[in-house]
Formats: sequence, structure tokens, C-alpha cells
Amino acid sequence: MPDESCAAFAPGRVNLIGEHTDYNQGLALPFAIDEGITVLARAHARPGGRMVAVALDLDERDEFELADPSPVAGWRAFVRGAAAELGRAGYPLVAGSLQISGDLPRGAGLSSSAALEVALCVALIELGGGERRWSRGNVDRMQIARLCSRVENDWAGARTGLLDQIASIFGEARHALCIDFRTLQIEQVPLELAGWRLFVLDSGERHTNASSGYNERRQECASACEMLGVRSLAEASPDAVRGLPEPLRARASHVLGENVRVRSAVAALRSGDWPAVGSLINASHASLRDLFAISTDAVERTVERMLTAGAAGARLVGGGFGGNVLGLFAPGVAAPAGAREVRPGAGAHLLAQSPA
Ligand code: GLA
Repeated sequence: MPDESCAAFAPGRVNLIGEHTDYNQGLALPFAIDEGITVLARAHARPGGRMVAVALDLDERDEFELADPSPVAGWRAFVRGAAAELGRAGYPLVAGSLQISGDLPRGAGLSSSAALEVALCVALIELGGGERRWSRGNVDRMQIARLCSRVENDWAGARTGLLDQIASIFGEARHALCIDFRTLQIEQVPLELAGWRLFVLDSGERHTNASSGYNERRQECASACEMLGVRSLAEASPDAVRGLPEPLRARASHVLGENVRVRSAVAALRSGDWPAVGSLINASHASLRDLFAISTDAVERTVERMLTAGAAGARLVGGGFGGNVLGLFAPGVAAPAGAREVRPGAGAHLLAQSPA
């Protein structure tokens, strides 16, 4: 007998360093944050039938046939996609209502869409009451990360990689995750901040990964691989990349350089060398701006505000073309007005429900 209700939370993420490396089988170093999406799921009296989803912040609702969720645009695509993909993966589903709420700005580079997909999956899996349940700890979490990424790719139309989903699912308090996307190995790296602080500052510019230049950048990386005769940029040598025509040379150079920076950042974190992390963050931003060409005037102004305030490093986070800027501040240095502190928090989990 399935549980009658459950509540699931999935966090957004900030990527310390390693941008646009995930779909190139490279390295990234994100951490889950305290802000995220909560889904409250309640079963209807009988199995099968129609699912009702309500986005509380938007004051919008959706209703669809659980057995056959048809494609649709906007936030509804994530709900229908999560249900359809879970069903396809053999998870029993129970019709009911889903109440979605959150404190994560959308399109701001903090991974609101992955938080939504993951929270939906955790809630739907638990509500379904099958053998595999989040509360039993026997769900293949990497399978869920991949499944969520299919929701993003096939239902929402953004050809994103696995960075956000893995960070949202595998995040741990006080740790960043060094992810190797070639092997999908995850190394938890302690974030001993020792008085250093991380802030995000919103550029005010919104994007959706489906309609920004994100898919175009991904296509350019694929074209570079084709010309080099490699399966992914992780296999490309710097010498070969230098021979590519522009803009493919620039795009691939960013990816190769960013992977090196992730390794250096892990080493710097392990030795508590935050000034070195700051320099790597700055170098990452310069590369994203000059080689990968995904910064905007609003993002540049925001980076400038962080640096003027005294940040040891500042860079755009996420897909680019707007969103938030990450800033690293030494002890005692104040972040600019409007900046929000971010701390490495726990990954997706079920919440205890208060009695109705
Ligand atoms: C978005 C995508 C991720 C990743 C980043 C860039 O957040 O969802 O898969 O590609 O952009 O690092």
C-alpha cells in the first residue's frame, strides 16, 4: 500500500568552477545550496487516473493523464516528463496532487530546473510506494540523475548535461563534489571555508537553457569533436585543438583549460589556499567571456561590482547569458548590497511532514 503523502526537497547548486565541461566529459566542482524546490505529494484514493500539479509561486496548475502525459511547454513539461520517465523506468506511479513551491529564482543560473525535476522524482518515487524508495535508500541515484537530464533534454528542450542533477542529488553539507563526467565518479571535497564566504549576486538577466545560446555552444563542441575525430573534448590534445578553425578553437580551448582549473581548485581547497581558488575563479570567468562567449553586459557589470567590493574572485555560474555571479570574499571583506550568501548544503531528501 503506497504512502498517502510525502514531501521532498531538492536543492539548487552553485558551481565553484568547471563550467560547460559536463557534456564534454570533463570535470566540475559544484555544491548544493540551501535553497531549492519542495514538492508535497498526496495520493488520490484510487490508483491510476489523473495527476494534478500546482505551482504555488506562479499560481498555475496542470492536470494530465498519468498513463499518457502529452508534451507541453514551461514548468508543466518538467512535471509530465518526470512522471513519464519514471513510469518508463519501471517505477510504480500513483495519481494524486503535487504542490510545488520553492525559494530558488528561475533562470538565474542556480539550477532551478534540476531542483524541480529531482524534487518531483523523489516525491513521485516515494508516493508510488514500490520496492525502490528514497526512504529505503535503495534508489539508484545516478539513474535518477540521468532520468532527470532526459526530462530536461527531451521534455523541456534544453540539451543540458548532468552537472545540475548530480549536484542536486549527491550534494553534502560542507562539501563540494568533484565530478568526473567521463567515469561519473564523484569525490566529496571538504569546503573548509575558515571565515571565507561565497556570495551570489543576480545580474537581473534571465535565461532559459532551451532558448539561450546554450544549445548552440553544445553544438559547437560537438562539431569540434567531429573535426578532431574524438568522441569527446576530454580526449582532445591541446595541440590538435590549436589547429581548429574559429570559433571552435576558442570553444574547445575553454573546455580544456577549465578542466585543468578544476584540478587546480581541488588541490587549492585541499591545502586551504583560498586566494588561489579566487584566481582560478577569475581565470574561469575570463575564459567563459573571451573563449566561450557566454557573458553579457549585465553579467560583466555584476562581476565588476563583486570585484570592486573586494572579491578575491568572481565569475558567472551556470549556462551563461545572464543569471547569477559567484563571488569569493576573504574574511572581513563585505559583499556588495543585494548579494546572497550561499553555503554548501545537503542533497535531495524527504522532509518530515507536520501533521495536517
Ligand atoms: C547549465 C546546464 C549544465 C551545465 C552548465 C554549464 O547549468 O544545465 O548541464 O552544462 O549549464 O556548466
